Amino acid sequence: METNQAKKHEEQIARANQATEEGSSRIKEERFRLRYHLMPRTGWMNDPNGLVYFKGSYHAFYQYYPYKPSWGPMHWGHAKSEDLVNWTHLPVALAPSEPYDQGSSGGYGCFSGSAVVNGDSLALLYTGHVSGNSPVEVQCLAVSTDDGITFAKSEANPVIPGPPEEGLFGFRDPKVWKHEDTWYMVIGSGQEGRGNVRLYASSDLHEWRYVSIAADSDGSQGDMWECPDLFPLGGGENHVLIVSPMNMGATKTMYVSGTFDYEAGKLTTTLAERLDYGFDFYAPQTLEDDQGRRILFGWMNIWGATMPEQQDGWMGAMTIPRELILQPDGSVRMLPVPELETLRGERYEVESQVIEAGTELALRGITSDAVEIIALFDADAATEFGLKLRCSADGSEYTEVGYRAADRTLYVNRDLAGLGDGGISEVQLTPQDGGLLKLHLFLDRSSLELFANDGEKTMTNRIYPQPDSLGASLFSRGGNAILRSFVSYELNAIQ
Ligand code: FRU
Repeated sequence: METNQAKKHEEQIARANQATEEGSSRIKEERFRLRYHLMPRTGWMNDPNGLVYFKGSYHAFYQYYPYKPSWGPMHWGHAKSEDLVNWTHLPVALAPSEPYDQGSSGGYGCFSGSAVVNGDSLALLYTGHVSGNSPVEVQCLAVSTDDGITFAKSEANPVIPGPPEEGLFGFRDPKVWKHEDTWYMVIGSGQEGRGNVRLYASSDLHEWRYVSIAADSDGSQGDMWECPDLFPLGGGENHVLIVSPMNMGATKTMYVSGTFDYEAGKLTTTLAERLDYGFDFYAPQTLEDDQGRRILFGWMNIWGATMPEQQDGWMGAMTIPRELILQPDGSVRMLPVPELETLRGERYEVESQVIEAGTELALRGITSDAVEIIALFDADAATEFGLKLRCSADGSEYTEVGYRAADRTLYVNRDLAGLGDGGISEVQLTPQDGGLLKLHLFLDRSSLELFANDGEKTMTNRIYPQPDSLGASLFSRGGNAILRSFVSYELNAIQ
């Protein structure tokens, strides 16, 4: 017999699905709709949730509000893919419906969390957040009643009814994984101005035992760590923790690499670094696939930004999928997955040449708003060199990607990029062997993702140029720049 709980949830899901259909049929303006990124059909999207490889498919869930293109009571949107590139949208997976995840006002909903494959079934772990409740945040379980499309909330919810102690600043975003025969869960939290991560363990996903503070801020790394993700990378006891610290200045996402001791429940840190140096990269999450790859998607936006696409009835997107690779020094590289090569269309090549100081070389083969570019330069030849992208015909609008040799700084300048926020993203970057700088770029209608020196540093930014600003050029200032090679591909749309 169907319980009341199941019925209420089904009703909320049905409403949300209907809103998705109606909302998406109303979207007419395409100017910022991305061609090959996962984004909602309508309404609002934030964090990726429940990334998982299950029965031959990649599943991506996400924080979703189907009724308006602004944040509201959180649902979980859902899409699935066979190849990480082409996505099929699925019915809404979770909707607020219970006292632990539905309030009457203020912030509430099914907040961020994760998915795990439990035998033959898919299980979701998420935070029930209700502003007026005490505690405000509890951890909940929902289990698939079919092949990972429909989810029933557990009668045992909340499976973690509150934080392990009083006085915590936040207790949310459970990320679960299995090690040997035990399930482990990290939860984001903060205490006395320091972000930290709480570790729990379970044998059945229902009963959870508090273990430890798995990792803690050094005092300068934000006061609450949202969306923690702790996973093995690079073999042995090597692990990486990714967090999105609140109130850490320009650093929006950070990773800590080191070794994880499951007995003690502690991560010993070798290195802590910013994960991406752009403005629009937050709350990333990873999955491990059947090839053993660790694949990450981030939310390709940031809280507080101007979001011009809201006017068009939608908001939010995920980054392209990126594979994480641990380097011997403990740093992590992010590389676009090779599956993205299937999007490649027309190819355009520019011969190795000198770009004279003070000149620009037009890239006439670039005519689209969806392009992949791979360019190799001598890093030390000119004072400043790089590319101008999404240029208007009159030259007043463009986004500049450049490198300043004197202080070895890579930057993306979007001050003249169009609508939306301006600003310059910067990161220090030493040349590769042979004194080379390699820029690998993914341009989509309203985004620019830059992978420098084979993923050593990345920068993710949203840009909102006019649709007909499609020009591109190479430039050099203060000396001649040397282009070693250049190839670009027009990228096909996924839907
Ligand atoms: C991060 C976050 C999470 C929370 C969710 C709510 O962007 O604030 O901590 O679960 O968004 O939508």
